[in-house]
Amino acid sequence: MCATKRIAIITGASSGIGREFARQLDERHVADELWLIARSEEALEQVLEDISTPGRAIAADLSKAEDIDRVRLLLDDGDFLVAYLVNAAGFGKFGSWKTIDQAAENAMIDLNCRGLVDMTRLVLPHMERGSRIIQVASAAAFAPLPHMNVYAASKAFVLRYTRGLRWELHGTGITATALCPTWVRTGFEKVARQTDGGQHDVGHLLGAQKASTVVSRALLANKLHFAVACASIPSFVLRIIGKVVPSCITMAGWEALRRI
Ligand SMILES: NC(=O)c1ccc[n+]([C@@H]2O[C@H](COP(=O)([O-])OP(=O)(O)OC[C@H]3O[C@@H](n4cnc5c(N)ncnc54)[C@H](OP(=O)(O)O)[C@@H]3O)[C@@H](O)[C@H]2O)c1
Repeated sequence: MCATKRIAIITGASSGIGREFARQLDERHVADELWLIARSEEALEQVLEDISTPGRAIAADLSKAEDIDRVRLLLDDGDFLVAYLVNAAGFGKFGSWKTIDQAAENAMIDLNCRGLVDMTRLVLPHMERGSRIIQVASAAAFAPLPHMNVYAASKAFVLRYTRGLRWELHGTGITATALCPTWVRTGFEKVARQTDGGQHDVGHLLGAQKASTVVSRALLANKLHFAVACASIPSFVLRIIGKVVPSCITMAGWEALRRI
């Protein structure tokens, strides 16, 4: 008889915030195995070389239903208990509806929203009391953000979805937290600027944090059963502003900020 294996699944683990989650979950010895998912198998293998927990590098494009089905088959093909799910795969684009092409906008919605929901649904049956979910949203979820519009809307979706799911999970002992940082120094900016408007529509990533700080605060917030992990004071202030200030005013503020 084969024993249940405790695993942690981290999407977007080839770079930035996801890679940092892999490192910090490795240090905390939360699982027997880490499953790291992204498109770049080589980068995932590199992450596995740098950590001590055994793991699997799963090359998958999570904006594609067939790749999600492949992950589902892997999970169903054994006796796995998922201790942690971190959904960090995602990307944004700077620009307007004119300068971000339709394919990029659709891919953003497919990955940031549908891929995240699909991953969560396929993992939940393999979770039990004490299992943890961290969904990487963004402070962009707190208000509409012109020139980062579809991205911000996709992150608002992640935040709302995670909050609703928490209620549905009430009594199961499974904790879900939405991580909503402001800017973080990762590969995000390079991808976001690859549009016609990308070089000038958002001037600077003001006050960008280190991924290590954001991730350690996210893990703590999740341990404390917080619904939302802001990971910084500016993000917390933006969260309050998003709740009490009308969107037309926050958008005017953003218009000034993004031109700096
Ligand atoms: N950096 C910021 O300022 C910031 C702020 C708030 C929230 N976030 C969020 O944090 C999350 C992680 O981003 P990051 O900042 O760490 O950026 P990053 O360094 O560019 O990492 C993005 C990760 O997502 C993976 N990915 C991209 N497209 C994918 C696809 N179709 N299928 C599977 N994996 C895919 C990438 O790997 P491959 O390219 O190998 O597939 C990479 O591992 C994102 O959801 C982002 O929206 C970032």
